[in-house]
Amino acid sequence: MSTLSQPHLTMNGNGSNRSTERRPVTVPDFLSARARGVKLTMLTAYDATLARLLDTAGVDGLLVGDSLGMVVQGQPDSLAVTLEEMIYHTRLVMRGCRRALVVADLPFMSYQISPQQALESAGRLIKEGGAHAVKLEGGIRSAAAVEAITRADIPLMGHIGLTPQSVRRLGGFKVQRDASRLLDDARAIEAAGAFALVIECVPADLAARITEAVQIPTIGIGAGPHCDGQILVTHDLLGLFDNLRPRFVRRYAELGQAIQQAIEDYCQEVREGVFPGPEHSFR
Ligand code: KIV
Repeated sequence: MSTLSQPHLTMNGNGSNRSTERRPVTVPDFLSARARGVKLTMLTAYDATLARLLDTAGVDGLLVGDSLGMVVQGQPDSLAVTLEEMIYHTRLVMRGCRRALVVADLPFMSYQISPQQALESAGRLIKEGGAHAVKLEGGIRSAAAVEAITRADIPLMGHIGLTPQSVRRLGGFKVQRDASRLLDDARAIEAAGAFALVIECVPADLAARITEAVQIPTIGIGAGPHCDGQILVTHDLLGLFDNLRPRFVRRYAELGQAIQQAIEDYCQEVREGVFPGPEHSFR
């Protein structure tokens, strides 16, 4: 199995890449991944506890996604998430992370007004949040903002296809199939200086064409197996979030059920006087 920083990792007995040496993943590591035949792994994180678990498990990149509007704040979409909230959650994630590259989302209306506004918002995620890089949504329409940010040497990840901040215009979370527009969007974001590109909810063959059309690594979510890497919302993968169950998610665990069962057991034991027992009490 190839990993992003394999020469610096000690593989453990079962072949997993839990790292013993904590060389941080860098933007150049992402850029060279394709040439090295390494698939990039990314997941979302919103707090220090989960960030630590994901980082220790060896994920290459953590995205402080504005999906926190849904999975942390309980809102129907990401539109109400503020820049202040993104800065706060980015700080929490940075405290739990030692190796992964941390990318923070620019939330809705923190970069659409002007390239100047985009640069200022990105600068705050780096300076106040501590993020290593930022992400924003949109293709050609966002190219000027991408250029302003990357000219200031702030690494930026693009995001095309289904862009959740456009949910009102799109009329829902739908597969995006307009090949010529998506190819133009990808090229525009690459030309504007992005170091990587998220492709969301796009047919697998079209995502493969986009990946071929650009030099920067593509990170797919609902975009098939031909991208240079994959990202999922961690709460989806762990079975912690049931409001939406996208077809492209594989649930690697059912932690929601496990948590609910644990809490029911706790309540029952307290009510029956079983917990706390002598081993949990001080003499
Ligand atoms: O906000 C988010 O979690 C994202 C991912 C779904 C790519 O943008």
